[in-house]
Amino acid sequence: MKPLHEKLKNPIYLFLITVLYGCILNAQSKSIDNIQQNNMETSINNIIKQLTLEEKVVMCHAQSKFSTKGVERLGIPEIWMADGPHGVRAEISWDSWAYAGWTNDSITAFPALTCLAATFNPELAGDYGFSLGEEARYRKKDVLLGPGVNIYRTPMNGRNFEYMGEDPFLASTMVVPYIQGVQKNGVAACVKHFALNNQEHWRDKINVEASDRALHEIYLPAFKAAVQEADVWAVMGAYNKFRGQYTTHHELLINKILKGDWAYDGVVISDWSSAHDTMEAANNGLDIEMGTGTDGLGTTTLNHYANYFLANPFLEKLKSGAISESVLDDKVRRVLRLRFRTNLSKNRPLGRANNVEHHEVARKVATEGIVLLKNDNNFFPIKDDKDLTIAIIGENATRSMTAGGGSSELKPKFEISPLEGIKARYKNARILHSMGYETGPSEYAKVNPPSLDQDSLKAEAIKLAKKADIVLFVGGLNKSHLQDCEGDDRQQYGLPFGQEDLIRAISKVNQNVGFILLTGNAVEMPWLDHVKGVMQAWYLGSMAGHAMADVISGDVNPSGKLPFTFPKKLEDNGAHSFGETSYPGVNLTQHYKEDILVGYRWHDTKHIDPLYAFGYGMSYTSFEIENIKSDKENYHQNDNIIVTCNVTNTGAKSGAEVVQVYIGKPKSKVDRALKELKGFQKVTLEPGHGTHLNIEVPVSSLAYYDETLSDWVVEKGNYLIHVGNASNNISKKIKINIK
Ligand code: BGC
Repeated sequence: MKPLHEKLKNPIYLFLITVLYGCILNAQSKSIDNIQQNNMETSINNIIKQLTLEEKVVMCHAQSKFSTKGVERLGIPEIWMADGPHGVRAEISWDSWAYAGWTNDSITAFPALTCLAATFNPELAGDYGFSLGEEARYRKKDVLLGPGVNIYRTPMNGRNFEYMGEDPFLASTMVVPYIQGVQKNGVAACVKHFALNNQEHWRDKINVEASDRALHEIYLPAFKAAVQEADVWAVMGAYNKFRGQYTTHHELLINKILKGDWAYDGVVISDWSSAHDTMEAANNGLDIEMGTGTDGLGTTTLNHYANYFLANPFLEKLKSGAISESVLDDKVRRVLRLRFRTNLSKNRPLGRANNVEHHEVARKVATEGIVLLKNDNNFFPIKDDKDLTIAIIGENATRSMTAGGGSSELKPKFEISPLEGIKARYKNARILHSMGYETGPSEYAKVNPPSLDQDSLKAEAIKLAKKADIVLFVGGLNKSHLQDCEGDDRQQYGLPFGQEDLIRAISKVNQNVGFILLTGNAVEMPWLDHVKGVMQAWYLGSMAGHAMADVISGDVNPSGKLPFTFPKKLEDNGAHSFGETSYPGVNLTQHYKEDILVGYRWHDTKHIDPLYAFGYGMSYTSFEIENIKSDKENYHQNDNIIVTCNVTNTGAKSGAEVVQVYIGKPKSKVDRALKELKGFQKVTLEPGHGTHLNIEVPVSSLAYYDETLSDWVVEKGNYLIHVGNASNNISKKIKINIK
């Protein structure tokens, strides 16, 4: 027999030992987790025993605009929260929405979440979340009020820019690493707005009627992933009603689904003023009530924090026995868990802000998220040539896009405008600039009337366009009221502020026009034939201008893909095709009549060509996706389908492609979308290089939600796998069978 050290040289023994060691380590770390978990629960029980009824109730509501009280006597800290999804918001006053006027609260502004979704790069979402979490930690926040994962149902929703697009699988895949990244810093992410908050118009009153299938298949999956895969520590309720009940204290959504079926053990925080009733808030799962109006440090009693639904009125009902103390204890237990995970955690890192690494993450997300939509005759990339004159036209070339928009407004330490970024990159070419139109200062609540004369601005822009070889029109929407802004929806699908006319006028004097579109929403493009190139450049935060210049110049090859469909006209969108009862609602109720057919699911199934499809985005190089196969033809319920293919960069520039796997069931017992995204992978390749990809899709993810069983069911039979690089550009379809 060989001695042990000889045996160890044998790769099989080595492998077995490594596996065994791995198992021991894994079991050990699991048991450490369990001990920590048990310790936490024991500590929480001990604390609960020491708290008076009053001290417990105090934990369930705000003490200021963004904080809740601690228990001074026991050294239990306050909880501090801050918006929002793409940067830590500046400090707000104790008792009003006014900014507190601190000078040490500026931060890195990261690109808005539509841009993050457009990267189709979950690893980058992890870097994004981690960097943002570090900034929140540095600013001494315990809860970051984001990310938002409400599904993009209509391009009119003023808040779509804060969310991750129209597809539940994409949003789920991107939100999980984001949350994990934030929470590594001992800062809770607070996923919002739970649920069905898909429009801002009448947001605090609208009653949504949607089917169980739409709810479970479209509107809840990203929240479910946040809870079950990312272990999110906080969830924010929404303003709207669902089936007649306010979502912030909703029997079905919160008690049954979130805390029951999904076994969520964290806190439910109200949206600011979204609680409406003490009994419902107490019994239907709201744990912390925020924002229900105050009028000045509680000097009058009417709107004092102590009068919140979960404050004195709650205390009275507890004292009278109308609400049992166990209801309160469950809330306190969750609120204490939040503290143990954040400000009572011993291993909390210190955080950092405004550092080079965060700026790099912001720039990387921005460049990877920019989507090239049109590029006639290789209009982009534009070389920096001394004989070239580029006219930059449009208000968005210089306007701050971190200002405005509502609660996601940011105060970045710096924000590189498109004009600054282009000037910094183009050292040889002559850069001219003209506003072309003006919309007035950006404010949360309103657009102030423009102060400059619009006709002369237009005339000046046309004059400039005549002189230039190339025009880059930097326009789109902005963060003012009725644009991409919280509080209400857009009022037109087309571009506002006379931009359509201006573009047409410019194209008459200059044939080389490219449009850099800054929006968080799709827009109508009747002017598309008048421009050679279109780049969807979102709201990109601190590094906006540099990132745009990176892609315009070709330093970075675009690889972003649309996270939502651009319909040709508004009526082509599912929600809008049913008229007012579907959007925005009649008598404050709306019916989601398109049901599960949201976004590309609608366009595909009803054969309505979009202007630009979900998943679409061009590159400066070309890719071939070939040899597309599934590992088997027949699968069982517990299998994983492995889709394989070869991707080759067949062009002359290094670049990245996103291979997308959609699956549909042509014959089904229930209505189905033609196909649904079930997997994707982004791959970067040098010119002439190729790689082999395996994309795994669990058969269980093909289930539909059976409304009679109230459960997920995988139907037997034939399915079609569609593989391509956009929802409307499928290279191959493969038939498989589920037994
Ligand atoms: C928004 C939330 C935000 C909160 C606090 C509300 O109006 O809907 O998303 O987190 O305000 O600013």
